[in-house]
Amino acid sequence: MKSLPKAELHLHLEGAAPPAFIAGLARQKKIDIARVFDERGDYAFDDFPHFLEVYEAATSVLKTPEDYARLVTAVAGELAEQGVVYAETFLSPDFCGGGDVSAWRDYVAAMQEAALAAEAQGGPILRGVVTCIRHFGPDRARRAALCAAETMGDFITGYGIAGNEMMGRPKDFAWSFDLAREAGLGLTAHAGEWGGPVSVREAVEDLRVTRIGHGVRAIEDLALVDRLAEDGIVLEVCPGSNIALGLYPRWDRHPICQLWERGVKVTVSTDDPPFFHTTLSDEYDRLAQAFGWDEEVLAGLNRVAAEAAFCDAPTRERVLARLGGTG
Ligand code: ADE
Ligand code: ZN
Repeated sequence: MKSLPKAELHLHLEGAAPPAFIAGLARQKKIDIARVFDERGDYAFDDFPHFLEVYEAATSVLKTPEDYARLVTAVAGELAEQGVVYAETFLSPDFCGGGDVSAWRDYVAAMQEAALAAEAQGGPILRGVVTCIRHFGPDRARRAALCAAETMGDFITGYGIAGNEMMGRPKDFAWSFDLAREAGLGLTAHAGEWGGPVSVREAVEDLRVTRIGHGVRAIEDLALVDRLAEDGIVLEVCPGSNIALGLYPRWDRHPICQLWERGVKVTVSTDDPPFFHTTLSDEYDRLAQAFGWDEEVLAGLNRVAAEAAFCDAPTRERVLARLGGTG
């Protein structure tokens, strides 16, 4: 489904780094991260906690704003090949300057410049969602929120939380979400991936997000599903990620179709594509196979993504035009 123009709302920038890109930087900087790769040079991990460890080890070779700029260029090229016209990349001050606002500004400037250059060459429109890491705790999340508020603008447009959902509770992070909301940032939270419906409900109530990263385990509580539908909460569903990490055994057992049939606003993203051996066009191909979704349904999901995007109105119009519809 490469030719279908697509929008994705949930893409971790480091998680989109091709393994060869990370291996090349590691060689250049003489950092030994051989343990993150298998014999074929792909990322290797056994389960979700191990995935997070491997992710952070791979990220450790990205040291400078220039490294991140090169990564943005590489990722934008890959997205363009997959027919992606708009993507929101999750960026973490924890990995880019350790939560220091002034260092973070330098990373943002470098990433934004690379994003604009890629767009000028016909690549996707890119925006950044500052993402705190749940297992790093609420204090570091506060610093991430301050970084987000300080750099909010044409490129940094949202704030969210990723990391290990089993650590802490959403309300521990309410201060940082309040700060981000007051600054005018769009809000999203990973929930309902490793935690059940309670985790989704708490993210909606305690963090007052309009979007949920994953959210798929809401399906275990149909009253919650109906509430998500009524409130228009948008799910950033990443089916290939869920299957690769063992949340569901097969594509036809993934709840995205049930959620959609019950009226929830679902969108489709890749999360960390090379880690899960996927691309956004692969996700669409697999959904078409598993649920018989045709191009009209799939184009509809992209319009939902454009409507839920954390961007200004003129950008949304441009994205809708690139998707081939005006909504
Ligand atoms: N960081 C990168 N990918 C993630 C995922 N699937 N869940 C939580 N944190 C993540
Ligand atoms: Zn994610």
